[in-house]
Amino acid sequence: MNPNLSQLQPYPFERLAKLFDGVTAPPGLQPIALSIGEPRHATPAFITEEVITHLHGLSRYPLTRGIAELREAITQWLTTRFSLPATSVDPERHVLPVNGTREALFAFAQCVIDPRDQPLVIMPNPFYQIYEGAALLAGATPWFTNTTRASGFLPDFEAVAASTWERCQLLYICTPGNPTGAVIPTETLQRLIELADTHDFIIASDECYSEIYMDDAPPPVGLLQAAAAMGRDDYRRCVVFHSLSKRSNAPGLRSGFVAGDAAVMKQFLRYRTYHGCAMPPATQMASIRAWQDETHVADNRHLYTQKFRVALEILGPVLDVGAADAGFYLWAHTPWADTDFARELYAQQHVSVLPGSYLSRTSGGINPGSDYVRMALVAPVEDCIEAAERIKSYIVSR
Ligand SMILES: Cc1ncc(COP(=O)(O)O)c(C=O)c1O
Repeated sequence: MNPNLSQLQPYPFERLAKLFDGVTAPPGLQPIALSIGEPRHATPAFITEEVITHLHGLSRYPLTRGIAELREAITQWLTTRFSLPATSVDPERHVLPVNGTREALFAFAQCVIDPRDQPLVIMPNPFYQIYEGAALLAGATPWFTNTTRASGFLPDFEAVAASTWERCQLLYICTPGNPTGAVIPTETLQRLIELADTHDFIIASDECYSEIYMDDAPPPVGLLQAAAAMGRDDYRRCVVFHSLSKRSNAPGLRSGFVAGDAAVMKQFLRYRTYHGCAMPPATQMASIRAWQDETHVADNRHLYTQKFRVALEILGPVLDVGAADAGFYLWAHTPWADTDFARELYAQQHVSVLPGSYLSRTSGGINPGSDYVRMALVAPVEDCIEAAERIKSYIVSR
């Protein structure tokens, strides 16, 4: 067996199941799960129909790089959404479709890490769990940058020593962040690009929540946008990950893309050809339609905006929680231990939230997820209101 497998930590939902083990939630209350970040708005019918229409394409092997029309549609979306210079993104060299960003974020580390030189993979803390597993299985050591209130819930990159950057081969960033919802500003992204040049590492920017922002807020900036604004339109050392799962409420479609540095993408395509992860033809056709439409994305955003407003109205007076920059999570500071909060809330109110400490590791003497819980506002608006009311009752009655 690969010895690195033994370094993998139990997934947060496994730990949550253990936390609730033996607890009987009130059967009279309908369960409401705010613990899992799975979008639950309806998938637009035109996406589903496009899958059905193209199911006859099963008799041929799809190519790893996908069909040209898909890479064109992705290029068009990326260029428009992030105001990139026209023609700076070449669909032949800069773009690859992936079966959701989860597999791509994982595979990317396996492709770019050279395990011979005690490599570090720097990542936020708390973090999307795949970054850590990807680093470990690639033979690297994860290095955590805490995201705390003091750092605006963003990693404090200036606190990372030059000797640490020197060993870094890959930096994962997540913007908008899961779980904190914080967006990394342009200046910070540009500083990271400079650091990547100085210390020779690649930046993998996980931007899968980029389309979930408040109705009236400016769209979150992306890494390629920050690079282009520096006049760097070859996107050297920069790679972004985007997904239809959140943007288009299609997590079951398993569709996203990776785009950026042509030299890196060339090797990633080579890796993926052997890995064997071509996107099924019907998924490719449906993805083209999804990337070409913004109406459903605006409708989706509107639903989240409503949910944030009502949840914050109810919870604001009783819980230390603020509006996220973007994404669909509330990252709330708990008045007592996050695990107690989650267990008692489940036991008394049949509402599940995820303890922040399950998403983070102790680093620099602190666990930045401790005494926080993550609440995913994915349920229908009435359920989010009901959940917020129940959370409020739990807090005021304790
Ligand atoms: C931060 C982050 N990145 C990536 C993913 C993976 O999404 P998908 O594989 O559906 O594109 C998720 C899913 O929850 C996520 O929260």
